[in-house]
Amino acid sequence: MHCTGRQKAGACEFGVRHKMNIEITKFSMSDYEEATAFWASIPEVGLDDADSISSMQSFIKRNPELSFVARHGRELIGAVLCGHDGRRGYLHHLAVNPDYRGRGIGKRLVNKCLSALYRCGVSRCNIFVYSRNEKEKEFWEKTGWTTYDGLEIMYRNVEPNV
Ligand SMILES: CC(C)(COP(=O)(O)OP(=O)(O)OC[C@H]1O[C@@H](n2cnc3c(N)ncnc32)[C@H](O)[C@@H]1OP(=O)(O)O)[C@@H](O)C(=O)NCCC(=O)NCCS
Repeated sequence: MHCTGRQKAGACEFGVRHKMNIEITKFSMSDYEEATAFWASIPEVGLDDADSISSMQSFIKRNPELSFVARHGRELIGAVLCGHDGRRGYLHHLAVNPDYRGRGIGKRLVNKCLSALYRCGVSRCNIFVYSRNEKEKEFWEKTGWTTYDGLEIMYRNVEPNV
């Protein structure tokens, strides 16, 4: 594969990228601090109270071995959260360090999640994509995802004394 544009991590001075050893491992709470710092550096990923350490502990406890991180050496360069409710799977916070994009790492992270969901007997996975993220929509479409026709996602905050 030849380099184009800005030099990416792994590109050599002759313009040909060498193969990088990217390791994908299951997300554990020991990845939490690094992963949240990484997600905070990605403008398309929004963190909120659902990403607090206690919420994440709860999420990982309810959905063990479904979420993944990608590392180049010791550096965390990609991550994704995956869970299911027994019927459908959901992905959150998929992101790859901009210097490592276009190398199939995003696709590998997603495929790890889908394989793990399959082993749990879950036959469909949903994602939430902001319509302002046109470029990322292309990633999902290219990797086999389909938009629901006529479906909008709604939400309501959960408060005491409703
Ligand atoms: C979306 C994202 C995770 C893709 O990661 P990546 O490692 O670059 O993706 P991959 O290299 O695995 O790409 C897989 C395929 O999608 C295509 N693709 C990836 N990003 C694309 C983009 N922005 N536009 C169009 N196609 C894209 C690749 O060309 C590749 O196609 P191919 O299999 O035909 O070669 C990365 O761009 C990112 O972190 N974006 C910011 C965070 C974000 O928006 N996450 C999504 C939240 S909904």
